Amino acid sequence: MAEVRFDDRIAVVTGAGGGLGREYALLLANRGAKLVINDLGGAMDGTGAGTTAAEKVCQEIKDAGGEAVPNYDSVADLEGAQNIIKTAIDAFGKVDILVNNAGILRDKSFVKMEMEDYDKVIAVHLNGTFYCCKAAFPHMRDNAYGRIVSAASGAGVYGNFGQANYAAAKMGIVGLTHVLKQEGAKYNIMANVIVPIAGTRMTATVMPPNLLELFKPEFVAPMVAWACSEKCAFSGYTFVAGAGYYSRTAFMEGPGVFFSPDEPITLEMVDGNIDKITSLEGAATYDNATAQTAHALSHLNLG
Ligand code: NAI
Repeated sequence: MAEVRFDDRIAVVTGAGGGLGREYALLLANRGAKLVINDLGGAMDGTGAGTTAAEKVCQEIKDAGGEAVPNYDSVADLEGAQNIIKTAIDAFGKVDILVNNAGILRDKSFVKMEMEDYDKVIAVHLNGTFYCCKAAFPHMRDNAYGRIVSAASGAGVYGNFGQANYAAAKMGIVGLTHVLKQEGAKYNIMANVIVPIAGTRMTATVMPPNLLELFKPEFVAPMVAWACSEKCAFSGYTFVAGAGYYSRTAFMEGPGVFFSPDEPITLEMVDGNIDKITSLEGAATYDNATAQTAHALSHLNLG
């Protein structure tokens, strides 16, 4: 198999001072990319800050013969996000790859969740991803090349007790990616999502030690790096990776039922057809919202 390389590619990885982000950065650097290692360096709940985490990963990359510069800004701050991308432009002249990976957790059951827990988690995950994309996208458009990979979570895709804030933020990122897919297509900008499963400080308290060992963060990195590569002609995809498992998840829509709008459509017609309405047998995923609308109209003779 031909080696997948990133020579002359400039990559920004947010939250790359540890956990999954560090693994993504190390693999990209190992294959020739030059890196901006962003990390705020705080605690898992988003408090505190420090430069050590980003510096250490930069040093690791340099020790292995690669090139990397650190950045300590918060993605949750628009100016910070702009500065993260500016760090790439100042050091290397462009940005080809953006991995939106920075994240925090503030888990609580929905009833007990304080609005501050919601605001902070939305700020880092959803706003942080939006801001970094906003700062990087024009550079990618001007260079007619871009690869964006943003971290979502099974907690958002399928739900997880105590993570209402986090799940909402993560699925916001999926929606954002679906739009960046549309708007980036003509500029060769591919935007995709990773749903990782990995033993990191984020999962250390919820995964038993034997599972933590199986879900090595380095197993996620090849999927993310592939989606960051020239090989990746997919956009709007959500990849899943963990413990040696690699897959794709997607919104699927069942074929549904069609009632004629020429007759009154009653509540009882919905009730009587609920099995067909909810069936996913023969389900499809649509390329964009217009294609979905076309399916909804497909039983009508519109001339
Ligand atoms: P981690 O806590 O080891 O890494 C997150 C990094 O982001 C930390 O180094 C932290 O300092 C940095 N960070 C936090 N807030 C920041 C901010 N405002 N600006 C810049 N950097 C900031 O956690 P892990 O597990 O490596 O998570 C990475 C991403 O993957 C996160 O987005 C997380 O939600 C996502 N994820 C992880 C899963 C897992 O199984 N570990 C599962 C699903 C999603």
